[in-house]
Amino acid sequence: MATDADITRAVDALRRGRLVAFPTETVYGLGADAADPDALARLYAVKGRPAEHPVIVHVAEPVQLAEWAAHVPRAARLLADALWPGPLTLVVPRAARVPDGITGGGDTVGLRVPDQPVALALLRAFGGGIAAPSANRFGHVSPTTAADVRADLGDDVDVVLDDGPCRVGVESTIVDCTGDELVILRPGGVTRERIEEVSGRPAAIARDSPVRAPGTLKSHYAPDAAVLLVDRDGLPDRAAALVAAGQRVAVLAEEPCPSLPAGVIVLDPPADVDDYARVLYARLHEVDRQGVDVLLAVPPRDTGLGTAVADRLRRAAGRETL
Ligand code: TXA
Ligand code: MG
Repeated sequence: MATDADITRAVDALRRGRLVAFPTETVYGLGADAADPDALARLYAVKGRPAEHPVIVHVAEPVQLAEWAAHVPRAARLLADALWPGPLTLVVPRAARVPDGITGGGDTVGLRVPDQPVALALLRAFGGGIAAPSANRFGHVSPTTAADVRADLGDDVDVVLDDGPCRVGVESTIVDCTGDELVILRPGGVTRERIEEVSGRPAAIARDSPVRAPGTLKSHYAPDAAVLLVDRDGLPDRAAALVAAGQRVAVLAEEPCPSLPAGVIVLDPPADVDDYARVLYARLHEVDRQGVDVLLAVPPRDTGLGTAVADRLRRAAGRETL
């Protein structure tokens, strides 16, 4: 687990333009000094991410929102005050000082204060903003442990701070606060209901976001195994057909399913929707380690964190709708 000496080493690495992976409550992030264009270029190269995709800036304190925004919309202020630190990214008009390397050349910047002690210790000690996408290569499954980070990025990451598995397990909710209405660009760790309650305004969920956000591409967060979404009743027949065709099959579902054919790998079932979010990426990584060809997944109910889990499963399956 990360010590004070590890934090000092990480801050030093960031100041030298190096990359530091660190835990957040959602997933592990791959951090670079948000004010250093060379460090940002290295970040994009290691991620394998197209330059026009923007990256989130992480800061230690809600007041820092004003340093990165040209102006702070009222709804953004309300959301930041109530929900930061927390799994929420606010998209606001960018201040002139924000490097193009962060915004993908756009007029906005995404900001968040993570709710994780090691992340906050790092941000406070560093002082400035840390640009951090999830610490995985572009299109891969996001990491929720330090071991996942190392497995995907290897020596391309200079320091990895380890603080165990992430508490939430799916990424932050991204809310575009730049227009007349709030738009949720990516469902995540904060529910739509909570956003509407705190801001006092309706929040639309973007279907096909016009904003260049890779986490909103139809195929993303994908393991090597094919992912098929099924309902519980269809599970035994689907599994039987795939096994008969010689496929190595795994099943992910909250409720145990009694009548599965022999040979099917039944993954440890999540206890509820929050647990589903917490374990989802770990299960997707496990499926690849076990050499599974097809994962049959029964999505959770579309409530609370279930919305974000269903969204990630759809994208892992490369399909737009369930
Ligand atoms: O929970 C999270 O948000 C994690 C942790 C590490 O903080 N980060 C994360 O970053 O998921 P990333 O880069 O993997 O996904 C961030 C998403 C991307 O789809 C990106 O394009 C979008 O946020 N994004 C960032 N800035 C944006 C902006 N100004 N406008 C619209 N989308 C933006
Ligand atoms: Mg990501």
